[in-house]
Amino acid sequence: MLSLSSRLRLHLILLSFVTLQCLTVTTATCHMDDEAGLLAFKSAITADPSGKLNSWKPGTDCCKWFGISCDGNNHRVTTLTLVGQPDQSNTSLSGTISPSLSKLHYLGGIYLQDLQNLSGPFPNLLFSLPNIEYVYIENSKLSGQIPANIGDLTRLFALSFADNRFSGPIPSSISNLTQLGQLKFGGNLLTGTVPAGIQQLKKLTLLSLDRNQLTGTVPDIFSTLTELRSLSLSHNKFSGKIPSTISALAPKLIYLKLGHNYFTGQIPNFLGSFHALDTLDLSWNRFSGTVPKSFGNLTKIFNLDLSHNFLVDPFPEMNVKGIESLDLSYNGFHLSEIPKWVTSSTIIYSLKVARCGIKIKLDDWKPAETYFYDYIDLSDNEISGSPVGLLNRTNYLVGFQASGNRIRFDMESVKFPNTLKDLDLSRNLVFGKLPKAISGLEKLNVSNNHLCGPIPANKFSASAFSGNDCLCGSPLSPCKA
Ligand SMILES: *[C@@H]1O[C@H](CO)[C@@H](O)[C@H](O)[C@H]1NC(C)=O
Ligand SMILES: *[C@@H]1O[C@H](CO)[C@@H](O)[C@H](O)[C@H]1NC(C)=O
Ligand SMILES: *[C@@H]1O[C@H](CO)[C@@H](O)[C@H](O)[C@H]1NC(C)=O
Ligand SMILES: *[C@@H]1O[C@H](CO)[C@@H](O)[C@H](O)[C@H]1NC(C)=O
Ligand SMILES: *[C@@H]1O[C@H](CO)[C@@H](O)[C@H](O)[C@H]1NC(C)=O
Ligand SMILES: *[C@@H]1O[C@H](CO)[C@@H](O)[C@H](O)[C@H]1NC(C)=O
Repeated sequence: MLSLSSRLRLHLILLSFVTLQCLTVTTATCHMDDEAGLLAFKSAITADPSGKLNSWKPGTDCCKWFGISCDGNNHRVTTLTLVGQPDQSNTSLSGTISPSLSKLHYLGGIYLQDLQNLSGPFPNLLFSLPNIEYVYIENSKLSGQIPANIGDLTRLFALSFADNRFSGPIPSSISNLTQLGQLKFGGNLLTGTVPAGIQQLKKLTLLSLDRNQLTGTVPDIFSTLTELRSLSLSHNKFSGKIPSTISALAPKLIYLKLGHNYFTGQIPNFLGSFHALDTLDLSWNRFSGTVPKSFGNLTKIFNLDLSHNFLVDPFPEMNVKGIESLDLSYNGFHLSEIPKWVTSSTIIYSLKVARCGIKIKLDDWKPAETYFYDYIDLSDNEISGSPVGLLNRTNYLVGFQASGNRIRFDMESVKFPNTLKDLDLSRNLVFGKLPKAISGLEKLNVSNNHLCGPIPANKFSASAFSGNDCLCGSPLSPCKA
């Protein structure tokens, strides 16, 4: 039988043992609410082919789990970051976003990007997270409407649901998210108009509503949005004129995309005063009149797309140091030549000037640098001569389109760049035999030329070869023995 003192001692030892265990427990595992919330998130994931959540095991420190970070002081979970790769389905996550994430009371950032296959409605758990500031749930399959009370998430600095399947309108309460620096709803199925209350989001540096089904005129909301660097409204159904308050964005805007809408009227003069602009896309609209002379002042423009409008001559002289990509196709231009500021660019990789009234002899066009070219479209001009020298100097060319010109050369003399996939020389004066190299292309059209002889093995349809002098063999009729 133990004496009282020994029993007391034993008790003390037990007690200290327990306390010690308690201590090791608190340092070895994270807060039980955080652990429970994250394990519930994991259990709502039905497929995780790349094993992103393999380290998420009960009883281990959730602060050390893949994709989790914690506050150094209180050891609570502050961010959840799981990112896939957009074009690799084996990096996806399938399933839904568990409402139990709301247990993570210190969660400040949710980054679930390019996971591709998260489904379910808008994650209402966001409304129960008192500290949430950054939400990027991008490129998945969330659907349904954006809740009308989204304006309650007033702590948010960034909100992105880009590339999901949300439908319905953008709620007007969005105007209450006055801390927002970034708002991204691009790539959904949103309908209705742009809420005028967006003008209250004075801290916005990035606004993207592109690739939705938004309609109406764009309201004049920009005079207060002077911090905007990037504005994208392309691929919607907007109509009317470019709102005049966009001129307020002149000092800082770098990126402006309004393409693929139904905008009308003239391109406003004030766009020429956007000194920081490096990307401007007004393509596939109904802009008419001339391109303002003030565009000569867009010295930093690298990417300019004005294609598929009703713009007419004269095209202004640009003072850009080096253009990277230019598309002026399918307007009412008669440029006669490829502009000097294009020919002199040493960094250009894409040139598209289809139906621009160009009348050069191709051999005479001596671009300062051809090395970076991956796309050249010269279709439907009055270009003569031969592209052999040009093609010989482009190491990375992927597409060459020159249909509907007066190009005349011996097809056998051309050396294709190894990278070439898409070649259209239809409706020209090309002669000679087809080289074997055409077999490796993905797209080809040499119809309506003066080619002759057997067609090398290929997967193309007859219309790619028809209208030549004496081409024979599959897919045309067999060659005579
Ligand atoms: C996913 O598949 C691609 C090829 O399709 C492979 O290169 C890559 O390593 C795979 N990634 C993972 C995480 O399994
Ligand atoms: C995406 O998720 C759905 C339902 O959660 C599932 O049926 C489907 O197989 C998943 N697709 C891929 C490519 O993982
Ligand atoms: C913005 O928030 C205030 C206060 O919560 C509220 O009264 C108002 O209705 C909200 N505005 C919108 C447009 O929802
Ligand atoms: C270009 O900018 C300068 C100085 O800001 C201005 O004086 C000139 O008128 C502008 N040119 C055009 C064509 O707008
Ligand atoms: C193509 O380039 C090669 C080597 O760079 C050169 O020998 C050849 O003459 C060139 N051919 C033409 C038609 O310019
Ligand atoms: C080739 O171009 C002609 C017009 O020149 C067109 O009619 C035909 O459909 C085109 N074929 C292919 C396969 O692109």
